Amino acid sequence: MSASGYGGQPVIILKEGTERNRGTDARNANIMAARIVAEAVKTSLGPKGMDKMLVDSFGDVTITNDGATMLKEMDVQHPAAKMMVEVSKTQDDEVGDGTTSVVVLTGELLGKAVELMAKKIHPTVVIDGYRDAQEQVLKYFEEIAIKVEPTDKATLKKVCVTSMASKLISGYSDHLSDVAVDATLQVAEEKDGKYEVDLDMIKLEKKPGGSLTDTNLIQGLVIDKEVVHSDMPKLVKDAKIGLLNASMEIEKTEFDSKIHIESPTEMQAYLDQEEQMLRDMVKKVKDAGISVLFCQKGIDDMVQHFMAREGIMAARRLKKSDMEALAKATGAKIVTSVDDLSEADAGYAAKVEEKKIGDDKLTFVEGCKNPKAVSVLIRGGTERIVDEAERSLHDALSVARDVVQEPKIVAGGGAPEIEVARRLRRYAEGLAGRERLAVSAFAEAMEVIPTTLAENAGMDPIDAISEMQSNHEKGELWSGLNSLEGKVSDMSKLDVYEPMQVKAQAVKSATEASTMLLKIDDIIAASKMKPPAGGPEGMGGMPGGMPGGMPPM
Ligand SMILES: Nc1ncnc2c1ncn2[C@@H]1O[C@H](COP(=O)(O)OP(=O)(O)OP(=O)(O)O)[C@@H](O)[C@H]1O
Ligand SMILES: [Mg+2]
Repeated sequence: MSASGYGGQPVIILKEGTERNRGTDARNANIMAARIVAEAVKTSLGPKGMDKMLVDSFGDVTITNDGATMLKEMDVQHPAAKMMVEVSKTQDDEVGDGTTSVVVLTGELLGKAVELMAKKIHPTVVIDGYRDAQEQVLKYFEEIAIKVEPTDKATLKKVCVTSMASKLISGYSDHLSDVAVDATLQVAEEKDGKYEVDLDMIKLEKKPGGSLTDTNLIQGLVIDKEVVHSDMPKLVKDAKIGLLNASMEIEKTEFDSKIHIESPTEMQAYLDQEEQMLRDMVKKVKDAGISVLFCQKGIDDMVQHFMAREGIMAARRLKKSDMEALAKATGAKIVTSVDDLSEADAGYAAKVEEKKIGDDKLTFVEGCKNPKAVSVLIRGGTERIVDEAERSLHDALSVARDVVQEPKIVAGGGAPEIEVARRLRRYAEGLAGRERLAVSAFAEAMEVIPTTLAENAGMDPIDAISEMQSNHEKGELWSGLNSLEGKVSDMSKLDVYEPMQVKAQAVKSATEASTMLLKIDDIIAASKMKPPAGGPEGMGGMPGGMPGGMPPM
């Protein structure tokens, strides 16, 4: 990169091969990439939205409607497109739902910004206007939100059903919502009149087979491992649980070694000694009073046999995450040597049982010392259904948590967006010139949610929006787009409710992302590790077709 600087001598400040893209070009390229991402997910918004089938480089197929999942799997390349992926991930991390909406909203805010900039309004004016508008919108959400009881099951269920309305498994949302609400309430902890929910306490375990209605809440943990030996008990009550992260085998030497045995007696002595070592291991387990042992590594056949004789139940090769969950739930400490097993470090569960689920055997650890440890065992026809059910349950659990923690809800179907847009327009009227335009543009952008819902439901968006707007003028706060019946309805009467937090977070993240992209007027990209042979080189040239043209998504 060069600039004709001192005495006609170019001053080189960047490495050869660096791409630079400045001013309007840079901004437009970014905005375009971001909007393409938004367009791609738009059709999946709402209950009538489409699903996407994504095939990764290994040929694995994912069918989903979840915004964050779609974007994660899409593997986008452009930096601005990557930012959109991050926006939806942030939404997912913060509130767990609304990951499609946030991307659609960001795309629309950028689209409106382009129109403003075409009218020679400077990006900083747009940015200031957007930030101002965002603050107003958050205030409006607070004003219109309905305060609810944080532990009211009926309310929580409505919110869960709404979050699943747009998913492949929506037909089963009634049952799955019950499961989600029960699980959430069980792990909710009250602190000074407020509730906190740690969703990590809820373990999701999937097993294809059966039907989605067989999905249920387990008071404890489900471990996807069978009892290691057929003679071991399949049910242990009042279990003392040991967690071992070491193998119960005779360690093989790391280097090649040979043992010289010259007589049958020596041979016997050798075998006896080996057996004794294995017996000692089992004795240590028994002496520690352990009746159920979960081992992260392997267990020798002989050890299994001796343990079975002692009536000890054991499972081996557990996942690290399962071991950690067991430690949390049963109060056991994970020890790294058989010698360290002790009564003091053992955990407790009222019942440990191996059950046959479909073709597989799973181990259920129920009635744990920590009653807040629960699992949801997800069942369903095929692996893909079970996967999507897991993602949908994640959304349902998240929205239930959102409401338990911050008990404010709004009706859905685009009603809140229409209302805040209406209020924002009125606010904009009191502003001067250019900023007014930016704030009004923000208001229009908010309406992309009901507009998209209408489009996806096969309705005329212009008619639908104007009908909703006039209803809102008349004070019908929750007039929104009833996707399922293809008309404008009072969404509160349809029990379509969402956490206010989901809406607020979407507006916050979308404003942040769009203003961030608007602020960029210079893209400096280091050259790729391996430039294509014979491609344009260095100084002043712009290899790779970045400027003006659309960079790859
Ligand atoms: N029965 C319904 N009628 C109309 N709109 C609905 C209904 N149920 C849900 N919606 C609306 O659908 C939108 C949510 O759609 P969807 O769940 O597909 O996307 P998202 O929540 O933004 O993203 P994701 O769920 O993928 O994280 C919300 O605006 C919600 O109000
Ligand atoms: Mg959703």
